[in-house]
Amino acid sequence: MFVRSVVNTVMRAIRVKEFGSPEVLRLETNVPLPKPSNDQVLIKVHAAGINPVDTYIRSGTYAAKPTLPYTPGKDIAGVVEEVGSNVRHLKKGDRVYTMSATSGGYAEYSTAASSDTKLLHSNLTYEQGAGIGVPYYTAYRALMIVGGAKPGETVLIHGASGAVGLACVQIAHSRGLRVLGTAGSQAGLDLITKNGCDAVFCHRDEGYATKILEATNNTGPNIIIEMLANVNLERDLTMIAKKGRIVVVGNRGSVEITPRLAMQKECIVTGMLLFNASQGEMDEIDAAVAAGMRDGWIKPHIGKVYTLEQAPNAHEDVINNKGAQGRLIFRVSSE
Ligand SMILES: NC(=O)c1ccc[n+]([C@@H]2O[C@H](COP(=O)([O-])OP(=O)(O)OC[C@H]3O[C@@H](n4cnc5c(N)ncnc54)[C@H](OP(=O)(O)O)[C@@H]3O)[C@@H](O)[C@H]2O)c1
Repeated sequence: MFVRSVVNTVMRAIRVKEFGSPEVLRLETNVPLPKPSNDQVLIKVHAAGINPVDTYIRSGTYAAKPTLPYTPGKDIAGVVEEVGSNVRHLKKGDRVYTMSATSGGYAEYSTAASSDTKLLHSNLTYEQGAGIGVPYYTAYRALMIVGGAKPGETVLIHGASGAVGLACVQIAHSRGLRVLGTAGSQAGLDLITKNGCDAVFCHRDEGYATKILEATNNTGPNIIIEMLANVNLERDLTMIAKKGRIVVVGNRGSVEITPRLAMQKECIVTGMLLFNASQGEMDEIDAAVAAGMRDGWIKPHIGKVYTLEQAPNAHEDVINNKGAQGRLIFRVSSE
């Protein structure tokens, strides 16, 4: 028989009752605690990550819409509070992270499939733990799996100062690539330098693409990881090395490109969507992330911390902020 061990029966959580502007993110104080199924765990959430996709879903424009009302957020870190009867590899009290919070991460408690719940290494705080899931899994899949990065190659992280970009920088640096990165502010440029970029460029400066080419002896980067394809794809085609790979991770609109550039370079332009990852790929990323936490090269940088009450501001910031400095998170509980 399943016996509840948590004392609380209600919790604070953000609830969305209609799709729309950030103001639809309402904090409620008497939301019933979710109950884990036999294969799930209940996690006491210490910190929750804020992803751009959370805003696309909230606005109602995203292809996959949750049933209303719902609690947003998939990336969380915290402590296992209860385990379902089939769960063997986790126990109450374990420090964990997941990017698959099933009942919603912007809450004091959330459920997650035990198979999607991973141990958080003691090298990392809960706040850093909330910065692992979507950013690092996206970065690893884009760079290593879809991009096929090899030691000795040169990669340009086009938009390196945000959560996914910084994760790309750390992974590429740890794998022996030469890492070029862009940011839009001096603070962002300093941050990406500190995190492993060998050369940095401001994507708001006129002519920065020429400087990137010069930094590669005019041969161009072998790989470009692109965070804003609707602005940069044509420019990427002018920069990429012959036979290079451009991996589109972020895009917010349409763009006209000159296909002849792709012919001249014989380059590959591919999209990458994390949720297309196979189980085998997820297993590979789990192992790489566990090693990165253990060996210390995975260090999510927390740019700004919000309370749940500040959820509308947090959603404004994650989508509109210029001058990103890593990951935005909610601090939910510090107990
Ligand atoms: N494909 C997937 O599966 C997947 C998964 C996760 C995220 N994403 C997408 O990937 C993108 C990045 O996510 P994130 O969480 O890292 O967001 P973020 O933290 O807000 O970072 C956004 C990044 O884009 C940079 N940027 C702004 N203007 C740019 C420009 N003109 N050229 C190049 N870069 C520019 C920002 O730099 P400054 O602020 O310094 O200017 C910052 O580094 C988002 O669009 C997100 O939706 C896709």
